[in-house]
Amino acid sequence: MTARRIGLFFGMALISAGCLAITGAKAADEGHATVKDLMLGIVIPASDGVFGVGSKEPKNAMEWEVIEADAMVLAEAGRLLLTGGRAKDQGKWVEDAQKLIDTSLAAAKVAREKNVDKVLTAGDAVYDACDSCHTTYLPERVGN
Ligand code: HEC
Repeated sequence: MTARRIGLFFGMALISAGCLAITGAKAADEGHATVKDLMLGIVIPASDGVFGVGSKEPKNAMEWEVIEADAMVLAEAGRLLLTGGRAKDQGKWVEDAQKLIDTSLAAAKVAREKNVDKVLTAGDAVYDACDSCHTTYLPERVGN
């Protein structure tokens, strides 16, 4: 009897955990990177490279290649934001992630020209994509 109750309890707990996963309240766990993981592990370091070309100007072809790679990786992160249950909705989230992809690809293109001013201008557009998404979806801003 007791054991059955415990079984029932765990059964219910599993069902609620399943619902959470389905509603996306804690999407992309279970061995997959969360949105926060992508921000901390990929988006922030890669965008630092792109945003930083003014203060830390690339000195040679290799350093320019790193900036180009940063921009390409940012675009790829935008694609990851659209997969694995990470999208918070199919509307503005998709638009903002697509904006990150498009602006990052544009930044990669001008990084190939090794032009600091153009990369900084492209970086401003990338930043607008970050900001647009955060205005709507950052928990601190949304919760307050
Ligand atoms: C499509 C949406 C989206 C885009 C685009 C996006 N972010 Fe985020 N970002 C988020 C969300 C959602 C969080 C909150 C994650 C959480 O805490 O669960 C976040 C969190 C962050 C954080 C806070 C991390 C922390 O310590 O909790 C930083 C910093 C950040 N993003 C930087 C960036 C930068 C820089 C860009 C652009 C290059 C960017 N983000 C683009 C959605 C986005």
